[in-house]
Amino acid sequence: MQPLSRRNFAKSGAFTALSYSRILGANDRIRMGHIGLGNRGDQVHDGFLEHGDQQTIAICDLRPEYLDLAASKSRSNPTRYTDYRKLLDNKEVDAVSIATPDHWHALMFVDACRAGKDVYVEKPLSLTVAEGRKMVDVAAETKRVTQVGIHRRSARFLMEAAEFVRNGGIGHVTVAKGYHVMNEWPHGIGNPPDGPPPSEEEWDRWLGPAPKVPYNKNRTDYNFRWFYDYSGGQLTNFGVHYMDMIRWCLGKEAPAAVTAMGGKFAVQDNREVPDTLEVLWQFEGGTLVVFSQYNANAAPSNAQNSEMELRGTKGTMYLHGNRWEVVPEQILGHPRPVRTPIGRDEQRAIERGPRKPMIEPRSGKGSADTAFHARNFLDCVKSRAKCNCDILTGHISTSATLIGAIALKTRSFLEWDSKAERFTNNNDANRWLSYKYRAPYKL
Ligand SMILES: NC(=O)c1ccc[n+]([C@@H]2O[C@H](COP(=O)([O-])OP(=O)(O)OC[C@H]3O[C@@H](n4cnc5c(N)ncnc54)[C@H](O)[C@@H]3O)[C@@H](O)[C@H]2O)c1
Repeated sequence: MQPLSRRNFAKSGAFTALSYSRILGANDRIRMGHIGLGNRGDQVHDGFLEHGDQQTIAICDLRPEYLDLAASKSRSNPTRYTDYRKLLDNKEVDAVSIATPDHWHALMFVDACRAGKDVYVEKPLSLTVAEGRKMVDVAAETKRVTQVGIHRRSARFLMEAAEFVRNGGIGHVTVAKGYHVMNEWPHGIGNPPDGPPPSEEEWDRWLGPAPKVPYNKNRTDYNFRWFYDYSGGQLTNFGVHYMDMIRWCLGKEAPAAVTAMGGKFAVQDNREVPDTLEVLWQFEGGTLVVFSQYNANAAPSNAQNSEMELRGTKGTMYLHGNRWEVVPEQILGHPRPVRTPIGRDEQRAIERGPRKPMIEPRSGKGSADTAFHARNFLDCVKSRAKCNCDILTGHISTSATLIGAIALKTRSFLEWDSKAERFTNNNDANRWLSYKYRAPYKL
């Protein structure tokens, strides 16, 4: 059973959504402020609005039309802000969600913790490893409840998948892969010229701690993902979801080494990040993890065209958006014969079989709706328990992708000391673990 949401509860016919919220006392409600209400922020807000025990009392964005939309959905006449620090000064706000571009996450998160708010923050957790570490430390110091928006962690069917693999259900996983496949050739996100921003003040606030550069439309709404000052491309976008799911299945923490190759090979737009990329991590215990980004060709990723696959000695798990399936391996019951020029037919017959499956086929399905992740956050705000994707979990998964981006940038094979959060075989690469904020911003 998934936890009860207002939509599901209302669907049961026992109460309407409104009556559900009315039966709650004021003390049972969590009064939230939502910061960043663009593409994802709107979805996160919808996920919270599913639950009658969350009340949207404050909203913040730089775009008035996004504030209008969020206010119209809220049914509670929230106070509107364009400066998130003013929202954090509002003592009525118990908790916040942050769904601004990646380069803003660390500052807003740290300020929110210090203002005494519990925090739901979108993935990737941070732009650099050093920021993520700071976020982990501040959350611990201030004893905040934190949830990172890697929402697969709250999906029941994926909990079952992860548990099955962790318990050895498909044997020893030697290779796990995540794919981002889409053909964006030739136009990609287009090539608009730099020019004056619609508002200098808004552009400056949007940039925040990032370097001051001329305005380009592609650097803002959604497409900021393709520029390194604000994000890390699909590696830190979808790659974080995949790395986290794979780590969860494997029951492993940080990787021990990483390397990467790729580039902007075909798409003709003004992005900085690759359209084609392979990142390869090695984990202790004998597992390779691969992120394959093919954005100039859309042929299926694998036998099932799934988002992820985990190749175990006894079976392969294919993970799709709303289902998973285990396909058993067929195992030869004895060593393979030596190939010689004499008796090839017999050798082939022995190699071909008989083989037998080591496990039964298995599958699961469900939904990874953001509302489940929001539900888990609300429950933990009340109980003070750790969320399904707490800040440390989000930091380890995000850091793995960030060191992949550093391997690409430095064209290196990098060994990673995950305790010290430093590379041990390439000191120059360590300088990419942090960056200097633009004045007057300080973390
Ligand atoms: N969990 C997921 O599956 C998922 C999906 C999509 C996006 N995301 C994450 O959500 C974040 C936002 O991505 P998006 O696609 O919504 O981008 P977006 O550009 O659509 O939205 C970002 C919003 O932040 C606002 N903003 C920027 N600077 C601000 C500031 N200083 N103060 C207040 N508001 C500010 C912008 O006006 C904009 O409305 C990213 O970190 C992204 O990785 C997560």
